[in-house]
Amino acid sequence: MSQYTLVHGDILYSDTSDTLACYPDSWMVIRSGLIEAVEPVKPDIEGAKVRDYGHQLILPVFSDLHFHSVQYAMRGLGRDKELLPWLQTYTFKEEACFANIEYAERVFKQLLNELWTEGSFNLCTFSSLHLEATLLLMDMYEANEFRAYVGKVNMDSNDPILVEDTEASFEDTKRWIEESRALKYTKPIITPRFAPSCTPKLLANLGRLVEEQQLPVQTHLNENHGEIELVAELFPDYDNYYDVYRKNGLTPEGKTVMAHCIHNTKPELEAMKEDKVLIAHCPASNVNLSSGIMPLRDMIDQGFLIALGSDIGGGDRLFIGHAIVDAIRSANILSIVHEGKVAPVTFPEAYYLATAGGGSFFGKTGTFKPGYSADYIVVDDSCWPATNRYDLSERLEQFIYAGSGDRITERCMRGNLIAKPYSSL
Ligand code: GUN
Ligand code: FE
Repeated sequence: MSQYTLVHGDILYSDTSDTLACYPDSWMVIRSGLIEAVEPVKPDIEGAKVRDYGHQLILPVFSDLHFHSVQYAMRGLGRDKELLPWLQTYTFKEEACFANIEYAERVFKQLLNELWTEGSFNLCTFSSLHLEATLLLMDMYEANEFRAYVGKVNMDSNDPILVEDTEASFEDTKRWIEESRALKYTKPIITPRFAPSCTPKLLANLGRLVEEQQLPVQTHLNENHGEIELVAELFPDYDNYYDVYRKNGLTPEGKTVMAHCIHNTKPELEAMKEDKVLIAHCPASNVNLSSGIMPLRDMIDQGFLIALGSDIGGGDRLFIGHAIVDAIRSANILSIVHEGKVAPVTFPEAYYLATAGGGSFFGKTGTFKPGYSADYIVVDDSCWPATNRYDLSERLEQFIYAGSGDRITERCMRGNLIAKPYSSL
């Protein structure tokens, strides 16, 4: 039997970080789950399976590089608070509920259904500090063929409700890594919640583990002024916030995701560039918690690796289209405030962050170049009155601004169609 699948439709993906490749009425050639080519004429391959989507859009799956799977149930709460009181009032109480595995399963089922609906399949996410809930979450992502980095959160200081013993946090982390080793698509990522949640001893132990086992790391950085002051108080011997992670071995080159990165100093930016840190820009959360506006234009121009994060529950919407729009709007606001002296960010640039930019952290996914994993969504926008007058890039823009997962008719990972995870819910 042929290993080939031919996929027909209006195909579109990021060609470069600021241009789109548009292939109307074209064919994607998939062999053993990988893309061989996208071309305008149907290739003549005997025995190939055909999936014909007519004039629907075929797009890369979305990448969400920063969100908290365990904050799904508290989305939208506490928008009158800044980060530290928000964590104390809502977040830690909600996350404490994940000691109950039945509750965890109930939340995760709904979350996975919504991620599937919204077309987000490349994920980098925080769990809670609980070992059992984290392993369950990983099993569920794996069973439904998401590509996910999942972190058991480490936090052994500065909260009376949600806190681990230093030794227990480290021992649980080692056990978690051991127990998740067999998974194929879902991988562990070391996750100190943020510097203020961790003792120096725990940070140093985690750093050694990262080095020994060549593990990736995710955490928060420079999100909020109160947070940054707290880090300076708690870690007076370090040069800056980023230095706390770096000196403890928690910034492995090319394998580190730092969320937010709004209020960075020059030495921090230089170090992050050197370490090839991926910055997870979370525009909705940054405004919801009055954290600030990340200078996206400037960061792109400086050549940083950047992706988008929904940051559920600091953010409120899982559809990454919202993150694209919020990133563009935030950049527009900065441009307005600076009376045009700061340029805005274009649609193709923001779309790139949400697909190919985020995908780059996982390997070859997020665009449709030869050798990339055949990870796509299919979008039917024919119900909208004027789509037949628009070209592909305009239809994409309209889907991102005015659409949602309701317009997605099919999801495919590694060449295989993906069914709704929990259809009985
Ligand atoms: N910093 C430490 N923990 C969190 C969290 O849960 N959400 C956000 N947005 N920032 C954090
Ligand atoms: Fe976060």
